[in-house]
Parts: sequence; structure tokens; C-alpha cells
Amino acid sequence: MTTTRAVDFRTLLSTRAQIGQTARGTIASTTRTVLTPLYEFGGGRPDPGSFPYDGLVDATARMMKEEGADALTYGDALGYAGLRDLVCHKYELFEGLKVERDNILISNGSSHALSLAISAFVDTGDPMICESPTFSGTLSTIRRHGPEVIGVPVDREGIDTNALRERLEALWRAGRRCKLIYTIVNFQNPSGPTMTMRRRHELLALAREYETMILEDDAYGELRFEGEQHPSLYALDDSGSVIRSGTLSKILGAGVRLGWLCAPKDLVPVMNSFNFGGGVNPFMSRVATYYMRDHMPSHVALLVDVYRNKRDAMRRGLLETLEGTDADVNKPEGGFFLWIKLPTGTDREKLATLAAEARVQYVPGGSFYPNGGGERYIRLAYSYESVEKCYEGARLLGNAIRGAMS
Ligand SMILES: Cc1ncc(COP(=O)(O)O)c(C=O)c1O
Repeated sequence: MTTTRAVDFRTLLSTRAQIGQTARGTIASTTRTVLTPLYEFGGGRPDPGSFPYDGLVDATARMMKEEGADALTYGDALGYAGLRDLVCHKYELFEGLKVERDNILISNGSSHALSLAISAFVDTGDPMICESPTFSGTLSTIRRHGPEVIGVPVDREGIDTNALRERLEALWRAGRRCKLIYTIVNFQNPSGPTMTMRRRHELLALAREYETMILEDDAYGELRFEGEQHPSLYALDDSGSVIRSGTLSKILGAGVRLGWLCAPKDLVPVMNSFNFGGGVNPFMSRVATYYMRDHMPSHVALLVDVYRNKRDAMRRGLLETLEGTDADVNKPEGGFFLWIKLPTGTDREKLATLAAEARVQYVPGGSFYPNGGGERYIRLAYSYESVEKCYEGARLLGNAIRGAMS
């Protein structure tokens, strides 16, 4: 007779998986879940009404007729060549930036892209810098790699380069090198600023001086409602120290799960070595390419109008109800989010209760801070709900905030 033992998988987990459990716990514990919200202002989900359903049906049929069996077999290791070319075309069309297919690595959304870049550079215990606040999804990915995460404040001009210099200098003096600086350059998620030209140049100069790499996340760059578009860090860099990520999630559909990295050519295969085999989603890459080849500028122009209207409606609802308080509601020049500084004396627990009663969802600011802080802030996504619901929900939340003021 054989003895059966119960195996507790927890006792067998790899160090990396154990770090992952802790990282997820840290994020989850700071994010309140509102049950069945009627106003979903939590995650950065795209507007479902503007998904190009018919266009994608048509693109799928055309693609399958033209590509036959190629559509359904394994793909190229670095991604479908047509999509890599489309990304090059997009950069040229929107920014006048010239890159080549060999600079591009296709990924499963930009979350995956960022993870590949972080895996290529960051070991457990390594110092890595990110903005404070920063996108909670990437923060969780960063933490999963187990580095020492060092937050650098963001102000209206983007990352605070004086504070950045201090952190880099302190590391350098201690004989340590920062591996990566993660930054969201346009309509920073969550706090909204677009990094000024001065800061872009200062950041690049610091990366050169302290011999570190920059990971430039530009998930929303195409969705600019107003203001001047600046060249990317990647375009301004002449030392091969910038890796840039992009995504189709916000300009086509998050469900297509396609994003990319744009990087110096010799670095692309290194980052791809953390990828899985068979190429990333070759079927959907073809569908997206066939659609975007014909419709990219017109579809993006339509989305810019959609999201601008939603931003304005949500701001209006908040400003009307919070008038006379010292709340601050930002006005991002693009993207999906508003960042709100709550009025003095707002009771956060009471706000959570009142907002839940009004069935309005939001994300508490603390979720976005690598080293603590952010209690005075909340983030709202205007991307998902209709213009009308953005306005109504913002009024309900504004009233909840008033009700939570002592
Ligand atoms: C700043 C930022 N980067 C990256 C992502 C990841 O998006 P995806 O993996 O869908 O490309 C998001 C999504 O909300 C984001 O806000």
C-alpha cells in the first residue's frame, strides 16, 4: 500500500513566485472593491461603443482569404512582420519618427512588453526607479521582479529631475547603479502631466551621466485632446539608453492584447529571450494590421473626440459639486484619467462608504505610490462610461466627497 501525502504547493514555490504573491497582496490591500458599481470609473478600460466591430469582421475575412494557412500557424519569434511594420508606419505618421522593423518586438499588450524589458534588466534587490505616483499595474509587475523600488515625485512638468538626481547620486555613492527608470511621459497615469521638453532633456542627461536605462511607457500618446506633442525620449536619445513601449489597447481594443517595445536593435532579441515561443498572437496581429492599415488615422481621430467629451463631462460634474472647496481636479491633455486632490478634512473611510452607496467606483491614490503616500488623492477613469454617466457619476461622487468632509 502506498502512502499518500498532501502536497502544499506553497512550500514548493520558486522565489520569484513568492515575491509575486507578496506584490499582488500589497496592491490588492490598498484597492477597495465597490460591489456592482453603476459608474465604473475604476480601471482604464476603453470605450466599448467605439470598438470597430464591423471593420474588424471585414478585416478578419480579408486577412483569412489573403493569408490562408499562414493565418493559423505559428508566428515569427519577434512578432508578425506586418504589425512590426505598421508600428514603424504609425510612429512616422503620428510623430515623424523613423524606426525599422528590427527595432520592434510585438507583445501581449504593453503590460507584457514592460515585463519583458524589466526581466531583461532587473534582478532581485537591484535598485529601480519609478515615478511616484505611477501606474499600479506596472508597479505590481516591477514588484514581482523583487527590486528595491525607489519612487521619484512627479509634478506638473513630469518627473522631478532634481529629486531624481539626488536618488541616482545616492545610489552611485553607495556603489550601486539604478538599472531602469520607468516613466510615463504623456498624460501620466495616474496624475496626468505630460513631461515638458526641459524635463525630457534633463532625464536623458541624467540617464547618461549615471549610466542607466530608461523605460518609456507611452500607452496613451495618440489620444491627445489639446496641447503640444513633444518628441518621445526614444526620439531625443542618441545613446541607445531608451526602451519605449506602446499598445493597441487604447486605440483599437484592449481585448486584442497587442503591444510592443521599440528599442535599440541589439537589445530586441535579449528582451525577446523572456518571451514564449510561437510568436505573440499571430492571428490577431494580422487582423489588427489589416484593419489599422486602412483606418488608423480616422479611427484615432474619432477616439480623440470621444474621450475629450468624456473628460469634459466628468470634470464639469466634479467642478460643479466641489465648488467652494479646496479640491483640485486636474485637466490632462489626453488619456483616460482624472486625478483629484480631495478637499482638506475628507474622511477617506466615509468617502468610500458614501461612494459605494452611490455606486460610484474610483481608485484610492495610495495604490499608485511605490513607497507609501497618496492618501489625499483619488483617480477616476472617464474612458469606459458614456458622456452622460461620466457627468452624473461625477456629480454623485462630488456630493459624496462633500458628505465626507468634516
Ligand atoms: C500607463 C499604462 N501603461 C500600460 C498599460 C497596459 O495596457 P495594455 O497591457 O493593455 O497595453 C496601461 C493600461 O491601463 C497603462 O495605463
